[in-house]
Amino acid sequence: MQVLYRKHRPRDFKEIVGQQHIVTALTNSLQSNRVAHAYLFSGPRGVGKTTVARILAKALNCLERGKPCNTCASCEKFNRGQAMNLVEIDAASNRGIDEIRDLRDSVKFVPAEGKYKVYVIDECHQLTKEAFNALLKTLEEPPAHAVFVLATTEIDKVLPTIISRTQRYDFRRPSVMQIVMRLEQVAKKENAILDKDAALLIALAAEGSLRDAESILGQIMAVEDKKITSGEVEAILGMPRREAAKKMFELVANRNTAGALGLIQELHESGYSLDYFSKLLLQFFRNAIFLKTDPSLKKFVEQDLLPDEIECISKNIVNLNPEYLSRAVSLISENMQSFRKSHLPQLPLEITVVELTTK
Ligand SMILES: Nc1ncnc2c1ncn2[C@@H]1O[C@H](COP(=O)(O)OP(=O)(O)OP(=O)(O)O)[C@@H](O)[C@H]1O
Ligand SMILES: [Mg+2]
Ligand SMILES: [Zn+2]
Repeated sequence: MQVLYRKHRPRDFKEIVGQQHIVTALTNSLQSNRVAHAYLFSGPRGVGKTTVARILAKALNCLERGKPCNTCASCEKFNRGQAMNLVEIDAASNRGIDEIRDLRDSVKFVPAEGKYKVYVIDECHQLTKEAFNALLKTLEEPPAHAVFVLATTEIDKVLPTIISRTQRYDFRRPSVMQIVMRLEQVAKKENAILDKDAALLIALAAEGSLRDAESILGQIMAVEDKKITSGEVEAILGMPRREAAKKMFELVANRNTAGALGLIQELHESGYSLDYFSKLLLQFFRNAIFLKTDPSLKKFVEQDLLPDEIECISKNIVNLNPEYLSRAVSLISENMQSFRKSHLPQLPLEITVVELTTK
């Protein structure tokens, strides 16, 4: 079975979620026939860099100008993954020396079919110095039929000489709502019914990666029926229920030591990952700082938490000061570090809640 995110990889700019600034710029340059010869796509994992590069390659070779029409012979070849004029090089797997050398020799030949030959160089920050230099020579005088798309998750590691020779596009992390939208699209194509809460939970767990979101959805669909609820999502991901983190936040905020210690025991006995639980609790306190600081920051909080969780925080922070909240964040994250070393997995969290409820 094909994994979900490959099966439903967008085939058209219209299906791309969240990168509107890039899609608009690329469509405009395609329509006015002013395409650059070298692009640099930077941004976090799983947000569409490779996908957009492939759509661009397809559009450049589409028999209808300025599109991927997805029906002409060229587009169909791209969609079957058989296009000869798309070359993908993964700099991470072999550091690219041989590939770039080959590329330097072969780039001058006009493509056997189609108008443009598009070279996508993934994780280009991992190219060796030699490969980089070879690439630089090619980028200085690219033949008219060649288009390069360099992709990277670590823009800081790309040499300035490369950056200055490319047209740079920064891919953004999609918002939780945009991830939810995409999940709904994919679920619909699979004829699955995805509850709004379930979609929201998956989106939060994906932490900004559309690929991760889709692969979580795929995991769930592999074991579940076509109707997906939030309970099932939590069960399959082995998440302690988010409810528990909310409850813990409330207990700590109200200095209820006994309640907090009891909850840790309960979670531990049910076999939940306290590591994941601590991370959730950390999110609560971190976002509490945001909410305490200024209501205008709420839009960021919505990237991490569900509406009823935000409400719970707002209610409980009235009596908490910012110093207390930031101490909580430090304590939880320091103690998370020591988890791996502790003989008793509950211990670091226990110490944290005792400190936070008694001092
Ligand atoms: N902006 C987006 N809109 C719609 N779907 C997306 C988007 N970004 C990613 N996806 C989904 O996630 C999958 C992986 O995306 P893609 O390979 O383009 O990510 P990437 O940015 O190249 O990540 P990496 O840095 O890990 O290579 C796609 O097949 C698609 O299903
Ligand atoms: Mg990629
Ligand atoms: Zn076409």
